[in-house]
Amino acid sequence: MTLAHEAQRRRTFAIISHPDAGKTTLTEHLLLLGGAIHEAGRVKARGEARRARSDWMKIEQERGISVTSAVMTFEFHDAIFNLLDTPGHEDFSEDTYRTLTAADSAVMVIDAAKGIEAQTRKLFEVCRLRDIPIMTFVNKMDREARDPFEIVDEIADQLQLDVAPMSWPVGQGLNFRGVYDLYKDEFSVFGKDGERISSAEMVARLRPEEKDKLDEDVELVKAGLSHFDAASYREGHLTPLFFGSALKNFSVRDLLAHLAEHAPPPRAQSAKEKVVHPADEEVSGFVFKVQANMDPNHRDRVAFVRLASGRFRRNMKLTQSGTAKTIGVHNPILFFAQSRETVDEAYPGDIIGIPNHGVLRVGDTLSESGKLVFTGIPNFAPEILRRVRLSDPMKQKHLARALTSLAEEGVTQVFKPQIGSYWIVGVVGPLQLDVLKSRLRAEYGLDVELEQAPYDTARWISGSDADIEKFLDGNRGGMAADRDGAPVFLAKSAWELGYVADKNPGIKFAKTRERA
Ligand code: G4P
Repeated sequence: MTLAHEAQRRRTFAIISHPDAGKTTLTEHLLLLGGAIHEAGRVKARGEARRARSDWMKIEQERGISVTSAVMTFEFHDAIFNLLDTPGHEDFSEDTYRTLTAADSAVMVIDAAKGIEAQTRKLFEVCRLRDIPIMTFVNKMDREARDPFEIVDEIADQLQLDVAPMSWPVGQGLNFRGVYDLYKDEFSVFGKDGERISSAEMVARLRPEEKDKLDEDVELVKAGLSHFDAASYREGHLTPLFFGSALKNFSVRDLLAHLAEHAPPPRAQSAKEKVVHPADEEVSGFVFKVQANMDPNHRDRVAFVRLASGRFRRNMKLTQSGTAKTIGVHNPILFFAQSRETVDEAYPGDIIGIPNHGVLRVGDTLSESGKLVFTGIPNFAPEILRRVRLSDPMKQKHLARALTSLAEEGVTQVFKPQIGSYWIVGVVGPLQLDVLKSRLRAEYGLDVELEQAPYDTARWISGSDADIEKFLDGNRGGMAADRDGAPVFLAKSAWELGYVADKNPGIKFAKTRERA
């Protein structure tokens, strides 16, 4: 098959939701439909583990599990799906945001009793920033749910989206009877494995009052709500919406079929100086996630690369932007729900894992020519800074190696102040501190305390050589280097940052640093 055709049938997507809305359950049923797993309950442990913090850490330390879940590949209706996992807990938002840079579309899962929740909204905003189109699955219709019109209005108002219901529910909770397909004039019966009947048969099955209510609703929906429009969906203005139950595998197939038919294939990616199209011959991709120590005995690292163009073949050589290092990719990995396999070929939209020893970093571009640099994969500003105190001060060197290595995964940031011997770590959410501590102990045998740091905020600085020189002279006490040696100013307070910025108009203070 041609490169263009292979790229065209890829669907790389992520599921966004608030914890407990049903992401894990939906994932499981998508994988079942795609033949990637064969019984329900396999992915389950993760959902539960996420809710219990101690369990979560245990699971996370058994590296294998979270790795196979980083991306899962399956087929359905001649489309090849790459489902990216986004960690559910809000503390992992940085990781989640990065993962969304590798997705071409998203499915938003909403709990029918709760509507839009905080985490859903945050993730939605990231999708909007990147114009990622979204399909919506209103889950748990088999339980007490809110009025469907209310849910639709809430999505439309709060997210400023046109909402196009694809089907409309009859009843909810114990009285949930099924959904009426607004486009095919058919009815899916709840509880009968999604049995589809004609609207004529439906009349015989529903109670008269149910039928009357449905007629009334459908009239309102058709007159007042948007119709599905593929172009508007792909532009991110309209969300098709399904009512269902992930747990009872109801409406999941309709959602998946709609994804296969309408979700966008790999997008063109902006690079410095040009736009890269999936069907371009040159193989290219970018690293959106690095995971270290999947096997603690080997100190290995796997870089997750989202392919952007060309037909990738095993053993080919790719060059890293920035360093111009060339890497022979001999053991690229493709991820399935329960296994990892070496791949011989991969296409735009696919995610391959490249084992390496710390050469590849989040944000790196890989390409055959070495000339491409993709833009737009930022580092997020750490909001919490802590000073690392070792219980055994003889292990300073060991600590330096461990911190740098964990920072290369891109989730924790490390800063080495110019003055003093303590390292400073920065994270986006407090749970990451616990994870960091426990990983330092489990993977490196280091006991540390993470103490209150004398700093409040970190800013990457840039400016002309002369301006930087002048700035350094006056502010050496707050200067540090990030893991790549880039200069960072650690301010004691927002007030200090404002003051210093006023005094140094030639210096730019950035919350994030895009790797060049
Ligand atoms: P998450 O990954 O988004 O955090 O959610 P997850 O799938 O783990 O689902 C959270 C809870 O909601 C689970 O119940 C799950 O069984 C339930 N659930 C998911 N989809 C549906 C649905 O369509 N209908 C109903 N009724 N429940 C649903 P739990 O009680 O926390 O776990 P368990 O004890 O049932 O295993």
